[in-house]
Formats: sequence, structure tokens, C-alpha cells
Amino acid sequence: MKALEITPLEGKTLKVIIVEKEYSEPFWIIEPTNNHTPKNILTSRFKPSIAFCNFFEKLVDEVKPDLITEEMGNRSAKEFNEDNVLAQISSKRKIPFSAADIDENAKSYVASLLEEKKQLRDRIVKALEDMPNDTPEKEYLIAYGQCLQQEIEEIEREAKFSVRESWIAMGILENARKMEKVDVTCLHISSPEHVSGVKKLLESVDVDLETVHPTKKLVFTKEKAPMAELEDLLNSMQIQVKPVVRTSSEEAPYILFFLDTEKRASPFDICMAYDAGFSVVVPYENVTPEEAKKIVQDAIFSRDPKGIKRTCFFIGGKDMEKAEEVLKVVRETMFPPFQANTIIDPAGAYTTATAMVAKVEDALAKSKLGNLKDKRVAVFGTGSVGRVAAILLAKLGCSVAIVSPNPDRKDGDEYVSKLSSLLRENYGVDVEGVFAPTPEKKMEVINNADVILCASVAGVRLISKDMLSEVKLVKVIADVNAVPPLGVEGMKLDDDMREFLPGIFGIGPLTIGRLKYKLEREILREARRNGKGTVYNYNHAMELARKILKGEISAAKLAVTVGYPPKERKNP
Ligand SMILES: NC(=O)c1ccc[n+]([C@@H]2O[C@H](COP(=O)([O-])OP(=O)(O)OC[C@H]3O[C@@H](n4cnc5c(N)ncnc54)[C@H](OP(=O)(O)O)[C@@H]3O)[C@@H](O)[C@H]2O)c1
Repeated sequence: MKALEITPLEGKTLKVIIVEKEYSEPFWIIEPTNNHTPKNILTSRFKPSIAFCNFFEKLVDEVKPDLITEEMGNRSAKEFNEDNVLAQISSKRKIPFSAADIDENAKSYVASLLEEKKQLRDRIVKALEDMPNDTPEKEYLIAYGQCLQQEIEEIEREAKFSVRESWIAMGILENARKMEKVDVTCLHISSPEHVSGVKKLLESVDVDLETVHPTKKLVFTKEKAPMAELEDLLNSMQIQVKPVVRTSSEEAPYILFFLDTEKRASPFDICMAYDAGFSVVVPYENVTPEEAKKIVQDAIFSRDPKGIKRTCFFIGGKDMEKAEEVLKVVRETMFPPFQANTIIDPAGAYTTATAMVAKVEDALAKSKLGNLKDKRVAVFGTGSVGRVAAILLAKLGCSVAIVSPNPDRKDGDEYVSKLSSLLRENYGVDVEGVFAPTPEKKMEVINNADVILCASVAGVRLISKDMLSEVKLVKVIADVNAVPPLGVEGMKLDDDMREFLPGIFGIGPLTIGRLKYKLEREILREARRNGKGTVYNYNHAMELARKILKGEISAAKLAVTVGYPPKERKNP
């Protein structure tokens, strides 16, 4: 059996013009038996109209393609090659005309898969006719039958669209490959329902693509005379066909300008941006506010307001204060209607901190341990992650302490006091600054908190088991350091409210990391799509993280197996 493989043409360029025809070419894997739709000659005619043929002739003469392809559908070779008016138009101009469609063997294979299921479904339908109503047996048999029907429809849909469209794209490429020219132009005649699928597949192998959608309009050359003689009626009308041509390049690409204040733009965020669907990511490094202003001005004026909707800025860098300064300038440089979406997530800190806070909030509620806003929270770590976590918590209403646990710091007390003032002045929040470089000082902090968040430097243990064994009240501890040793002794990477010591519930770095990943991906996707000139900062991220957590349902938890005879359902 021929293998389905879509590969780029080596050493050739291919331009494909997909011409949408007026109807979908009939195609089925197994002929439907129950097609009772009333037939109307105007809606059930599977033959190009005179207007389309005239338009097609003109198009062929203008474009002068090297080859023409069309879906075969259910037609025989004779119907396709000899009785097909489009084949005749091509042959008159000596242009090769070929079928591009699913391989017969592949079709037979799918048909055999379907046949088996259809036979079983028909047996069930037959058996149901003779069964009394309202019995469990009948209910079960109906459920099995419905399930089979759904499977059959899914296989048919898959075969008709993704599988068949891949064969069509491969057929076009194969025919172009056989041409002895380097630059090949192909006209492909397509059913309306397959234009977009085939286009996407061909574009994925760098084919230069245009689509032509012929629109038709009836115009009256004389006064309308519905009851007139047929001859007059025919003479009173004309059809105008106008093509709507779309080239791939007409759709402006999604561009992300990545402004990083560090000397190396983060590969993590660049990969995430491409995976979220950006067409291009342009990294700038060592970005200062002055530089940012020039980049933004240059970028926004090159695109019209429609293009601005597809432009986005991402501000990164280890230092959150520097990133915030860049954000300020970026926003000040934009004005309506030149306002592009802007994301700020310095070294992933905003999404990491948000994921940690949102996860803890959700876990407390789900474990019935109260509301986060009523808790006393200690945040170990004064880097960007710790600072943003402290800001979010204070805004929620928690009583918050931000703690520097660094034994190497000489100016500890002065540093935390300045930090507390900075958070008040720049972010309007009241957070207590604490310097706790020793186990004794850390114990004081731990005893004064209900919730502890660890966001200190990677690979450094902050809290030992011994410290936690002295704790009297229930605590929830979350850690974002995934590099061994973890910040908290006894905690595991994947912990999700595991009671790893009596009364101590842990949320591990991978549990938070997974939410952070989803969050950043969602922010990038939303920023790419919505084009409203929004700023995506930690406030926006918090809303989104809550939504993600609300909608999170484990597929494995929901799986059930239903069989006859029915089992008693256990009460939860
Ligand atoms: N999963 C993710 O995507 C992701 C993203 C970003 C960050 N992270 C993690 O989040 C954590 C915090 O990152 P960050 O960028 O905000 O901050 P960071 O720069 O990694 O760490 C800053 C904190 O660590 C303290 N520190 C430095 N050396 C120390 C030592 N020897 N002993 C104890 N503390 C020490 C600093 O002390 P001072 O207070 O004295 O300055 C400061 O409080 C890290 O573990 C990082 O790996 C994860």
C-alpha cells in the first residue's frame, strides 16, 4: 500500500492556486443507505455550471498553469477524465489534468474498518425492534448502539477530512514532482469544504499558495419578466463571476517583539511564544527604557491598526524593577489606535509567583482549610518571584512578611526595611520585611505564619525537617525551587497538598511549575488573539490562573467503564 507522506519538493518551487468549485464533490467511504433528502435540480447538481466553466477557461488562459488537479471523489476514471468538462478544458490546452485524492487501498482499508462496525450497529438496531420497552437490557443495547454510531461517524469524518485532505495534498505534490520544470504552477480545483485543510497542509511544506473563490451574481439586462416567454427570460439575465483571491501573505503574521533587559533573551519564553502560535519572535537584548521607546515606535508605525492587532511586545529580564521601567516606556510610546498587547513576565517570575499564589488559594479552599485572604503568609525569597507573590498576597488582604534568608547578606535588616518601603511606594502594599538568615530566626517566621511560600535561590535548603517537627499548628508550604536539594526537607517535586509531616501539607515545585506553564501559554495565546492593547501583568495572570484551576478536571478521574449487568453505583 502506498504510504501517506507529505514532504517538501526538493530543488523546485511550487505555486498552487486552489480554485473553489460550486459544490462539494460527492465522496463517501461506504455509500449511505438512508439519504432521504428531497432532490432539487438546483441544489443536487454535481457538475460545474456554464458560468464556472467560462470563468475557469479565462483563469487557465491567464495563469497558464503547468498542471491542473482535481479531487476524484466517487467518480470512475472515465467519468473523471472523459465526461468531465474541466478535464476537457485542460486537454484542449494540452495541460496535464490529474486526480489528487485518497488512494483506493487506503479507502478500502477504512471501509473494512467501518463495515465491521456498521454490521454490528445494524444487528443492534434489528435486535432493538423486538425488545420490550423500559428494560435495562434495552437501555444498555441502545447505549452500545449509540456509542458505535458515534465511532462510525468519527472514523468517517476523519477519513473524509484529515486523512483525505492529506492524500489530496500529497497528490498535488507528487504530480508537481513529476514535472520536468523547476518552477511549477498548479491549479487545483477543490470542494469548498476542503479548501482550508488542503491549503494548511501545502503551506506547511512551503508551497506558495493562493485561493480563488468565484462569487456569482445574477444581473438583469432587460426588465424582469417572470412570466415571459422562456426565450425572453433567458435573454433578460446574465451571470457575473468575480473571483475573490486570497494569498497567504495577505494575512499579516503574528509578530512578538521580545524585549529582554538581560544580555541573553530567554530561550524558554521564545519557545513558548512560538508554541502559542506566533509566526515570528524578534528578540532584543540589553534593552533599556530608551532603546525600548525606539523599538516600539519603529514597530508600530510599520503596521496599520489591523496589523497592530497582530503585534505584541513581551518584556523579560531577571530584574523586575528594570522590566517595569521598560513596560512604562513601552505603554507611554503607544497611543490609540496603535496600541499593541504587552506582556510582562521578567524571567518567568510573574507567572511563577501567580501560579504559586493561585495554587495555594485553590488548595486551601479545596481542602477546607479556609480562605487565603485571612491567613498570615511568610514568603521566603526577595527576588522577583518572592516580591510578586508578596504583592499579590497583600492585595488579597493577607498579612504578609517577605523574608531574606540569605546568610551571606551583610546588610540584612537595612535591605528588608528598604524593600518594604519600595513595595509600599511602588506597588501600594504593606508587607513586613524580615531578615532571617539563621534557623532560630526562620523558626520565628514559621511559627508566625499559617502559609509559607519558598521562593529562594535554586538548590538551597531553607527549611529542615527538624524545624518543622517543632511546629504546633497546621501549615501549608509551597516551594518553587525544583533544583535539588529542594527548599523544604521531606517535600517531593510532585506534592499536591500531601501531608508530608503531621499537620504539614506540601505543594511541590512541579505542581506549581505545571500551572505556571499553562498560565504562560494561555497568556501568550490570548495576547496573540485578542488584539485589544491589553497589558498582561501579574494581576491579569491571577485571574487567568484561577480560571485554569477552576476548569481543571482530570480526565483519568472521570473515566468510567459501563457493562451489563449493571453494577450498583457506590455513594460518594
Ligand atoms: N518554574 C519556573 O518557571 C521558575 C521561574 C522563575 C523562578 N523560579 C524559581 O523561583 C525561585 C526564585 O527565583 P527569583 O528569580 O525570584 O530569585 P533568585 O534570584 O533565584 O533568589 C533570590 C533569593 O534567594 C536568596 N539567596 C541567595 N543566596 C542564598 C543563599 N545562599 N541562601 C539562602 N538564600 C539565598 C536571596 O537573598 P537576598 O534576599 O539576600 O537577596 C533572595 O531572597 C528560584 O528557586 C527559581 O529557580 C522558577
